[in-house]
Amino acid sequence: MKVTVVGAGAVGASCAEYIAIKNFASEVVLLDIKEGYAEGKAMDLMQCASLNGFDTKITGITNDYSKTANSDICVITSGIPRKPGMTREELIGINAGIVKSVTTSLVEHSPNTVLIVVSNPMDTMTYLTHKATKLPKNRIIGMGGALDSARFKYRLAEALEAPISDVDGMVIGGHSDTGMVPLIAHATRNSVKVSEFLSQERLQQVAEDTKVGGATLTKLLGTSAWYAPGAAVSALVQAIACDQKKMFPCSTMLEGDYNLNDICIGVPVIIGRNGIERIVDIELSDAEKAHMQASAEGVRKTNDLLEL
Ligand code: 2OP
Repeated sequence: MKVTVVGAGAVGASCAEYIAIKNFASEVVLLDIKEGYAEGKAMDLMQCASLNGFDTKITGITNDYSKTANSDICVITSGIPRKPGMTREELIGINAGIVKSVTTSLVEHSPNTVLIVVSNPMDTMTYLTHKATKLPKNRIIGMGGALDSARFKYRLAEALEAPISDVDGMVIGGHSDTGMVPLIAHATRNSVKVSEFLSQERLQQVAEDTKVGGATLTKLLGTSAWYAPGAAVSALVQAIACDQKKMFPCSTMLEGDYNLNDICIGVPVIIGRNGIERIVDIELSDAEKAHMQASAEGVRKTNDLLEL
């Protein structure tokens, strides 16, 4: 199993590290545009192998896509991250050009790959990847919902004063501060609805804290987060590599699902060897449906800025 990660910045390197530590891939290629940078990160990570007990071979490459040939899975983290006070949408001008050229170069050398898009604004970059590569829709996955759901579970566990392993919940919709739809009514603690433990007011606070999860970290760190984004990507990569058929909310091209068409936005999907194997249609309340439509409007506005 060969995995390529483009972008050896904090998210890309953390992604490569988590994939290696889980020891399911034979090879990870880390590629960056900055001379020697990916080689350095790969060497540093390889020097963890005997200490952390993994056999995955990590190679660093400066901008030579021929070295990514025949990758089973490619992860795109390239582009600039946001600075404090910026929205993900503001990155589109620079990141669209980068993502378009990266995805086409990847597919040229790995025509059978599954692509995972991480670069922001993620839903629009996933949409752009469809238009640029024309790959079958199951082979393009936008990573946002897996991360947003992990942040939701963190906030729920905090409010419940419970261990995170007791908590389950999902965030669908766009990967943006206003677009996320945390599914509060579906969230549980050991199969018991969280509304049995927390007031509606507290749950609204959990939802709000979840939606600004990335912005909160950007303010604290001065740049966007990397550990949880890297962990979320590695969970998707593992689900594909090990054909786990796990359910995550991911950005995928919708064709009538959730009453939406020609848009990539987060909905629950089953991830296995073929990438997105199925979209799971769950029953939403009228308020959740309205929230989802509003979220889609926001994503469409950003998509409209693309020069396709
Ligand atoms: C985040 O939410 C990087 O968009 C990513 O942290």
